[in-house]
Amino acid sequence: MEEVKRKKILVIDVCVRGEESRTARLLDAACRSLKAEHPEREFEFLRLPEMHLSYLDQASLKERDGLLAKKNYDHPRFHLARQFQEADGIIVAAPFWDLAFPAMLKVYIENVSVDGLTFFCDEQGLHGMCRAEWMLHLTTRGGIWTEAMRQDESYLRALCTFFGIDSYHCISAEGIDIEGLDREKILADAIEETEKLCRTLH
Ligand SMILES: Cc1cc2nc3c(=O)[nH]c(=O)nc-3n(C[C@H](O)[C@H](O)[C@H](O)COP(=O)(O)O)c2cc1C
Repeated sequence: MEEVKRKKILVIDVCVRGEESRTARLLDAACRSLKAEHPEREFEFLRLPEMHLSYLDQASLKERDGLLAKKNYDHPRFHLARQFQEADGIIVAAPFWDLAFPAMLKVYIENVSVDGLTFFCDEQGLHGMCRAEWMLHLTTRGGIWTEAMRQDESYLRALCTFFGIDSYHCISAEGIDIEGLDREKILADAIEETEKLCRTLH
């Protein structure tokens, strides 16, 4: 009998405040809902706050360039990029920091942006190489911001194009630190929206 391939969901958890994080509550709702819809799905979790990834510096860039010149994509240095490339769906849960997200997520992106693994360019232009059909970006924001100021959203949306990921969805709880607003209701509404969207993600 032919083996049915189980879909893999990669969860990139950037919830620095751990159990106190409101963004983590959106992530819990997403995982519960996705599992309920498709129990056969496989989940891989990356807790970035515990991973202490290194950003590229002169030495590591040189090492990486050497490996890429030899097309040594199996090298452990590219493990995160291969994992990202092979995922069928990707969840990024990250609080809104400094109009974007915590720096450790940018460092993770440096680690997975690998020419020849997750994207390549030729005379026809850019080609994304990632298998994922969707990225779900979950966030909570202290304030309420216009689209131009939500740099997390515009950047992650552009990255989806870069990596060849067809659809990008963002769910955010906005104004969660503004006194006078009903913060529990803001979060509850975002949780409900997350659950609803997750029922539609394949
Ligand atoms: C380091 C840091 C930077 C932040 N920067 C912003 C910001 O630029 N704009 C904003 O509206 N809120 C900002 N906030 C507030 C967070 O977006 C808000 O508290 C969010 O809900 C935190 O998510 P969490 O509960 O998952 O940790 C910042 C919070 C921290 C700790």
